Amino acid sequence: MLYAQKVVLSDDLKTDLEYFLATLKYDRLFILTDTNTRDKCYPLIQDIPRIQAARLICIPAGDRHKDLEQLTAIWYILSNEGASRNSLLINLGGGMITDLGGFAGATFKRGMQTLNIPTTLMALVDAAVGGKTGINFNGLKNETGTFYPPLCVFIDCTFLRTLDRDNLLSGYAEMIKHALISSVETYASVLSFDLNKPVDYARLNQMVAQSVAVKERIVAEDPGEKGIRKALNLGHTIGHAIESLSFQTPAPLLHGHAVAVGIVCELYLSYKQCRFPSDKLIQVTQYIKEYYPPFPFDCKAYATLCERMTHDKKNTDGIINFTLLSEVGKIHIDQSVNKEFILESLDFYRESFGI
Ligand code: GLY
Repeated sequence: MLYAQKVVLSDDLKTDLEYFLATLKYDRLFILTDTNTRDKCYPLIQDIPRIQAARLICIPAGDRHKDLEQLTAIWYILSNEGASRNSLLINLGGGMITDLGGFAGATFKRGMQTLNIPTTLMALVDAAVGGKTGINFNGLKNETGTFYPPLCVFIDCTFLRTLDRDNLLSGYAEMIKHALISSVETYASVLSFDLNKPVDYARLNQMVAQSVAVKERIVAEDPGEKGIRKALNLGHTIGHAIESLSFQTPAPLLHGHAVAVGIVCELYLSYKQCRFPSDKLIQVTQYIKEYYPPFPFDCKAYATLCERMTHDKKNTDGIINFTLLSEVGKIHIDQSVNKEFILESLDFYRESFGI
């Protein structure tokens, strides 16, 4: 698979975007937003003459709208307004928009040009980078989708100033994951960032750039997720199960909050199975405990959680495959773990968080 995506670290989005659009050949321009990003983020670029000439598509905000209905609505607009393979679709928003818009662009006329402008920390460091697109389907997250890299991803941290704390924490969980799979230096830097103090945006911007670089390096090596890209799933096997369990409660978790739970559990599995150092397990658990609210569940939920884990895309022949670590940066993909350890890891989370 060709990995063509360009990542631009921008500190002046308007100028950089204007310049980039002038270098591109496209017949029509479409911009996908949701109701939040149309109000909060679109005004930052709307003065650009090429953007003013674009057709704005606005869909309802929220991950539950990353569905077939909205995908169809976008296809109708593109089709009725004469979009072609040479048209350009800009996805301006969080992961919901870059996933959904990416999928719409990948499938319309078998693939039109797309460009991502992520506006949440989650999308900046993860969702918008790496070419994964898709929608939720049949009650399952990202059940259908494609690998379809956008032409370019603009990383501009200005948008982070419009983000609420829950969304900041959600994206930060992916930065903890990137740190764990990269180097001791990045790990130390990420775990020393105080999320209770007013955000130090200058330092956060630097850490975002480092985090994106970790993801880019891994994706460039394995764009189709046949091998090392599975490292990016650390915390996600249990995290996705927790996330879908939370959807049955009155307080569904944001993706990164569920990943934070998954990181604690999967580092416990790493400690049991790959001798990940116990002091680092405790350090990460303490860090997550300090900033992330506990997710309450009891042992009656264990069977449901295990059943959910069997749907993970990394599984083969019905065996639940984990990505584990033997040290920070030492990655072991395709690890099957016995069920007893999985249950113990859930106990470990609940005991550590006093649940
Ligand atoms: N979010 C994990 C990946 O892009 O592979």
